Amino acid sequence: MSDVGKSDGAGSGMADVPESTRQRLALALDFDDLEEARLVAAQLQPFFGVAKVGLELFCTAGPDAIAAMAGLGYRVFLDLKLFDIPNTVYRSARVLGAHGVEFLTFHSRGGQDMLRAGVEGLGEGAAGVGAETPTALAVTVLTSDGDAPPHIVPNRIRTAVEGGCGGLVMAAEDLHMANQLAPRMKKVVPGIRLRGSDAHDQSRAATPAEAAAGGADLLVIGRTVTGADDPEAAAAAVVASI
Ligand code: C5P
Repeated sequence: MSDVGKSDGAGSGMADVPESTRQRLALALDFDDLEEARLVAAQLQPFFGVAKVGLELFCTAGPDAIAAMAGLGYRVFLDLKLFDIPNTVYRSARVLGAHGVEFLTFHSRGGQDMLRAGVEGLGEGAAGVGAETPTALAVTVLTSDGDAPPHIVPNRIRTAVEGGCGGLVMAAEDLHMANQLAPRMKKVVPGIRLRGSDAHDQSRAATPAEAAAGGADLLVIGRTVTGADDPEAAAAAVVASI
């Protein structure tokens, strides 16, 4: 397989991105319109291998959003941060697991039993359609939360390990804790900002270089690229900085 990202589609000619870098970058498609999300996803595909469908897009388009991104050739990351009683999380994760997602988020605040239920449902849903077992990601603390006491993150990491999750979502500044307490788990970092870019509601933002150097396996990139005047140039800057 070529080591260079796909260059067909909009944005071709600009990007010559190693495949290993593309697969380390998840594009946060926080839009309330599926067509707009699809256009942005197609435009930025030379830079991103993973499409993150979050609450906003899923609320407007539901499973069609997953199918649309998979149809473009993206690996799909569904970020719903499930947090409910174990039975509800189990049943919801089972439904979502059958839709072909590769990653699904749960909020670790829901506790070990809830996470276990989610992991089980997700695996069952995928197995029912002959798909590979998706990775359950536990969100530790929201990157917008700058007030969480210091013991919370290590506790939530332990909960995620006990709950059987395959990965963690965390601020870049917490990566060292995950590297210590859960070295084998996949580490996903949102709240990424290019230097000089608006932090918006993210209180624990980091640059792509900081997240990459800290050991992030997957960098979630949203408004620093999608809200830029020139999204392709911003995406190229992210790529260059890692
Ligand atoms: O635009 P921005 O880069 O701030 O987008 C960050 C994305 O990552 C959003 O889709 C948000 O829902 C998600 N996220 C986050 N913090 C977490 C988990 C997910 O910002 N802890």
